[in-house]
Amino acid sequence: MRLFAWSDLHVDYPANLRTLEQLSCADFRDDALLIAGDVSSDANRLMRALEGLKNRFAEVAFVPGNHDLWVSPQTRESSLEKLHALRAACRVCEIKVDPFRIRLTEQTVDVVPLLSWYLKPEEGDGSLYLPKPGEDASLAMWADNRRIKWPHFEPAETPADHLLNLNHLDPYDDSECVVTFSHFLPRVELAFNDWERFIRGEYAGTKDPHPEFNFTRVAGCRQLDERARRLGSRVHVYGHQHRNRDRFIDGVRYVSHCLGYPAERTTFDSGMSSEQPIEIKLNVGLESPV
Ligand SMILES: [Fe+2]
Repeated sequence: MRLFAWSDLHVDYPANLRTLEQLSCADFRDDALLIAGDVSSDANRLMRALEGLKNRFAEVAFVPGNHDLWVSPQTRESSLEKLHALRAACRVCEIKVDPFRIRLTEQTVDVVPLLSWYLKPEEGDGSLYLPKPGEDASLAMWADNRRIKWPHFEPAETPADHLLNLNHLDPYDDSECVVTFSHFLPRVELAFNDWERFIRGEYAGTKDPHPEFNFTRVAGCRQLDERARRLGSRVHVYGHQHRNRDRFIDGVRYVSHCLGYPAERTTFDSGMSSEQPIEIKLNVGLESPV
């Protein structure tokens, strides 16, 4: 068995659906695939896509992204109800939404899906927010503002708190290797092509197609990283930003491998092709990936 990862499949785009349908039915039969969210806002289409992947892989694991939890403004269903309904449907189809153990060629791996959400800067400690000159603090262009509908949470409880607390995880004491995955970013450094350049201020003046949009407002939360590290994660897979990464930070490897939107595929800043899932090799040395 090999371990693969992919995210942001966005099969509402016919080109993306074709990419999934063209995936080999023979090459991955003994392998496991982690899907780090954003498959489709349409629950039926989402489940068909996951079932199509389950026909190709021995194991498919899924954690929902923000697009997966979009609800119609007309429906009474909340995004939280949709989350639970999707997880129940996945369990029926034997798509993993809970922690599970696999045996790879050289070792046993505990795979842990981590439910999460982003923390906006006004929601408290743990937001990945960094200020950006000229940004729109109201996030008017962010569709989640119109398509995500949370129920009433406890006072002072954020959507991120609520979803993180659904994970019910204890650290492993008998694991050879832990791999975690989430849709959202666990660290702000990952939002930038070159974090060192960013903190030196060298991005100032470079062309920004959306100067009013500050992604770090909705990128993720630091509590995700804390949970992954508490579990002893060696590799954390994530998605959401549609930027492919493979980086080591403080002893943990972070991998993002997004199919993304069709128009983005020619502009990804990493040379990794995203038309196929990426194999996560666990014996890679700390210095090897870029
Ligand atoms: Fe997303």
